[in-house]
Amino acid sequence: MKPQLSLPRKRRIHSWPVRICHWINVLAMIGMVMSGWGIYNADPLFAFTFPQNTTLGGWLGGNIAWHLAVMWLLAANALLYLVWGIFSDHFRRDFFPFSPRSVWRDTVRALTFRLPHKPGQYNAVQKLMYSGVLLLGALLVLSGLSIWKPVQFSGLVWLFGGFDIARYVHFFAMSGVLLFVIIHVLMVLLVPETFVAMLTGGKKISTEDHADE
Ligand code: HEM
Repeated sequence: MKPQLSLPRKRRIHSWPVRICHWINVLAMIGMVMSGWGIYNADPLFAFTFPQNTTLGGWLGGNIAWHLAVMWLLAANALLYLVWGIFSDHFRRDFFPFSPRSVWRDTVRALTFRLPHKPGQYNAVQKLMYSGVLLLGALLVLSGLSIWKPVQFSGLVWLFGGFDIARYVHFFAMSGVLLFVIIHVLMVLLVPETFVAMLTGGKKISTEDHADE
């Protein structure tokens, strides 16, 4: 442990960069998923299509235009979030550590409504899910680049095992993000005050506060 040379500083539960990036990301994700479903409908991978009123863009050209436009918002926002998360130490401090044991313990606690909530501290299930959704996001970007520009990113296409497999990977990564959102929103409903803190920043807590395993 570092020697304590100054008084512990205070920080909000959620800093403003995290809050702004989070809500821009939610809007961008809605745009990406809805326009993506429209693109999927034009050439479905499976024996189903998405209802027209859950798609964005009206027709294939519109779906693609939306998908590529919102993509830049999503990418710029993700870049800001990643740079800020790394340089502010947010990821290391708040997303780690976690272990299979602590994830299992907190899953059991959550399912039996006994999960304690400490403001400003993520439980092990959250840590796993937030780290996991960042990885899924990276997979979405890489598979998306492969099917958007397969010639320019031919190395990536090769890594995925071909264009068709990259399409499946893109679809399943999208499905993984949706599964994340369902569990994520259910967990927020269990502790609704976290929603307010994600909007306002919440109360000030000591900078030293971070969850142990
Ligand atoms: C695409 C959809 C979403 C993604 C990828 C996502 C991702 C995340 C991530 C990564 C965090 C941790 C942020 C950090 O500390 O850096 C987070 C926190 C949070 N998200 Fe989301 N989120 C999504 C949708 C939503 C929605 C729809 C809601 C509203 C119900 C929501 C409410 C929250 C809240 C309240 C927290 C803070 C939880 C706490 O303090 O315990 N998120 N989200």
